[in-house]
Amino acid sequence: MLGNFTYCNPTKLYFGEKSLEALNTELPKYGQNVVLVYGGGSIKKNGIYDDVVAILKAQGKNVAEIAGVMPNPTLTKLYEGIEIARAHHADFILAVGGGSVCDYAKAVSVSVNCQDDPWEKYFVRFEEPDCETLPVGCVLTMVGTGSEMNAGSVITNEKTKMKIGHVFADEKIMPRFAILNPLYTLTLPHYQMVAGIYDIFNHICEQYFSGEDDNTSDYISEGLMRSLLHASRIANKNPNDYEARSNIMWTATWALNTLVAKGKSTDWMVHMLGQAAGAYTNATHGMTLAAVSLPYYRHILPYGLKKFVRFAENVWGVDPKGKNDQEIAEEGLASMESWMQEMGLAMNLTQLGADASMIEGMAKATLILKGGYKVLDHDEIVEILKESL
Ligand code: NZQ
Ligand code: ZN
Repeated sequence: MLGNFTYCNPTKLYFGEKSLEALNTELPKYGQNVVLVYGGGSIKKNGIYDDVVAILKAQGKNVAEIAGVMPNPTLTKLYEGIEIARAHHADFILAVGGGSVCDYAKAVSVSVNCQDDPWEKYFVRFEEPDCETLPVGCVLTMVGTGSEMNAGSVITNEKTKMKIGHVFADEKIMPRFAILNPLYTLTLPHYQMVAGIYDIFNHICEQYFSGEDDNTSDYISEGLMRSLLHASRIANKNPNDYEARSNIMWTATWALNTLVAKGKSTDWMVHMLGQAAGAYTNATHGMTLAAVSLPYYRHILPYGLKKFVRFAENVWGVDPKGKNDQEIAEEGLASMESWMQEMGLAMNLTQLGADASMIEGMAKATLILKGGYKVLDHDEIVEILKESL
């Protein structure tokens, strides 16, 4: 295992059917003025809103709301939320929703007491907050991003068509606690469920496909991927299978809570391509990743052949007998393609509303990272995006 690292993850998790009760334990730790953040209304339909508000009231909290946080939250919405939190003299932010709501709550948290423009400071210059931040708690309703136990926040600047994620270095930006009740995820539409499943899978891939040393993180990743594939097939047929949905929820958290990145350089180019596509189409995050993944992995396969062979054998159960490395690796990706089709994932960007006129803009909006098996140049990005259409 190469590299020097520090590991600290302070998010306290409450998991299971009764986990919302933990709000009664957690809320007294924070100030009176709470900002409740949620999305477009799913929590009002399924009753989670009523249950959360009842606990906030019972705890005597003074509550302001930021409602209508959209999937792929925008900068305009962020400015609006900062004003609400400032006017309320917020002490604490409670996010009830999916990754978009959790990410947004973190972005408000680091901006409320900050004089600089948050877009320029955090999403262009990637600075750390030098002001007081607000603690965030999270009640998760959509599974996939891992935002419930990490310091990531992704915001879309709808004017410049840039969708940028900042993973803050300071662990105090991670939610102080997260409530994970698998029952809350049962009302998700099938499309969102499978998009989340692919998001989880790809988070693991992004960390797995880097480095050549013998690394414990890779063995953990293979186990997480195998568990996810198993549970995803059950949930795809029967979305109400609690055991499968609870395993998916737990896997999502561990896929992106910094553990399996330890000792790794990590790749993240599928996310950079997917985010650029997302900025142009506003498509569901996991679907943008699915649409660009296979062209990307087939492109980098020759540069990381050994790892793709290991992926084929250890994750997809490819039998290596009588095959050369290239054949084994390709069979692994073919198995992955069949699974993606079985799940009903978006297999290209055209399905998500993209067309050839967007390719150059998307390519320019794709940040080039250096941790994977091949550092792409602009022409390769254009080529991969074209193959993804
Ligand atoms: O807005 P509502 O009405 O709540 O509906 C949401 C939304 O339309 C719905 N939904 C959520 N829970 C539901 C539900 N519908 C019925 N029943 C429920 N229980 O699902 C839709 C999608 O929600 P959203 O929060 O947008 O999904 P997700 O969790 O995938 O979050 C996506 C955002 O997270 C970012 C993405 O880029 C995107 O902006 N990411 C954040 C990361 C991080 N913090 O580390 C990493 C990820 O790679 C990702 O980039
Ligand atoms: Zn993701």
